[in-house]
This record gives sequence, structure tokens and C-alpha cells, in this order.
Amino acid sequence: MFKKITGLFNRYQSPEDENRLLQSLDRTRLPHHIAIIMDGNGRWAQRRGMPRSLGHRAGVESLRNIVQLCSELGIQVLTCYAFSTENWKRPVEEVNFLMNLLVEYLHKELDELHGKNVRINAIGRLSELPQGAREALENACRTTAGNSGLILNLALNYGGRKEITDAVIKIAQQVKENKIDVKDIDEKLISEHLYTAGLPDPDLLVRPSGDYRISNFLLWQLAYTEFWLSDVMWPDFRRIHLIQAILAYQSRERRFGGLIKK
Ligand code: IPE
Ligand code: IPE
Ligand code: MG
Repeated sequence: MFKKITGLFNRYQSPEDENRLLQSLDRTRLPHHIAIIMDGNGRWAQRRGMPRSLGHRAGVESLRNIVQLCSELGIQVLTCYAFSTENWKRPVEEVNFLMNLLVEYLHKELDELHGKNVRINAIGRLSELPQGAREALENACRTTAGNSGLILNLALNYGGRKEITDAVIKIAQQVKENKIDVKDIDEKLISEHLYTAGLPDPDLLVRPSGDYRISNFLLWQLAYTEFWLSDVMWPDFRRIHLIQAILAYQSRERRFGGLIKK
């Protein structure tokens, strides 16, 4: 049944097909937390003879569509990887463009997101972001702090290894100050010291654009996450693709190392 649906999807992508796929989702078994590596903007643009920056700009439209769908479906958390701790290695013009795009996105979308009851949150070494980006982010988080709908979690200057390092530093400091004992350190305590403290681990990870790697994303949290990889470039990524990813997720058997009673 599922193969039939996705097979169909590959051939047609009309609004009717989207609706049909949407109808076939099991609303009682949606992922609570979806994480997306928004990759492929640069290649998408370069293949069209355009500067990479236009790919980033086109990617914002995809984000808009996906946030809207997650909000409609009642997904609890959507974490989007927008800028990694390694992305500073890129030319300064591209980095500046991305930081300005973030400010522009937050500025343009805030009212609508707020109106949809979306709560904006950010993870990463936020203090190292340029002042303008930091302020726009703080404003968006503060404005939407009381919302109870989708948590839009933006990973910015985020690195999984930095996150774990930061958690180790915080925990070590508390041990040093005799606030906790070494024997209190367990998985729960470590989770509570990550940037994602209080959020469930992702159930579903989506990486578009044909690369099959984690790129330092949510290293701890992805322990038992289901992966869905696609060749679709992020700027081409639309609601139908996420619906397809969720359908694939719903066809998986999650065992968490155990056995499923048949
Ligand atoms: C993702 O697209 C956006 C960021 C990493 C900021 P890329 O810019 O990585 O696009 P590709 O992977 O080079 O095509
Ligand atoms: C991951 O993509 C980071 C984001 C999408 C923000 P990259 O393009 O930076 O990853 P690599 O370099 O291909 O691994
Ligand atoms: Mg990339």
C-alpha cells in the first residue's frame, strides 16, 4: 500500500496528489519532533547559473511551506538546521548574506508565525552570532514565548560536538562547586544540559539534496531517530515531500534495540 502511494508520488505532484497523500497519513502516529537539515541551496542556484545567495533566498520559501504544514498537522517541534558551527568557513559575503537573511525572515514572518501560535526557539552558540541576528532572534523568541503551538526550533551556529562540549563544561562546573556529585551524572542529566533541554528527541530526520551525512547535527539526540533522505534540493522541497517523509516514517518499525511482539 505504502509503496503504491510513494510510487504514485514520484510520477505526479499535483495538489490532488498532495491531498491524497495527506489523507493517507495516520494522524494518531505523527512524529512529535521533526528535524530537517536544510541543505542544497547553493547547488540549486549554481545549477541554474545563479549566485548561491539566490538559492538561500529560495530556501526561505521552502521553510515557510514546511512550517505551515507542521503547524497544520499539530507537530510539536520542528528543528531546522540553518547555520552550523562549520559554516563560518564559507566566504564572508555568504555568511553575511545568511545572517541578514535570518534577520529579514524573522522580521517578515514574525507576525504571521505569532498569529499561528508558533513558538520560536533557537539552539546553538547564539552569543557568537552577529548582534543584529541575536537581537532579531531574541525579539522573536520573546514575542512568541507564550505560544502553545508548533515550536520552530532554529539551529544557528549549532554544532553537535560544541553542544556536547558545552554540556560537559556546565556539568563539570557544577561538580567542582559541589552542586552535584559525579554519581548523579546519567543520560537524563546530560540531556538536560544540552541546548535542546526539555524538548523530545527527533522522531524523524529529513536531509534533502542527496548527501548522506549528519554534518554535526544533533549528535546525541539522533540516537534512535528515523532518517529520510532525498535528492530533492531544499529550495524545491515542498509540503508533498514532507508528507512523503512522514508516510515513510509511519511505515517503519522502531525497535529501540528491543524486539517487537508479533
Ligand atoms: C544549506 O545549503 C544552507 C546552509 C548550509 C547555510 P548549502 O549552502 O549548504 O547548499 P549546498 O549544499 O552548497 O548546495
Ligand atoms: C549542513 O549543511 C548545515 C546546514 C544545512 C545548515 P552543510 O552544507 O554545511 O554540510 P556539509 O558541509 O555538506 O557536510
Ligand atoms: Mg550544503
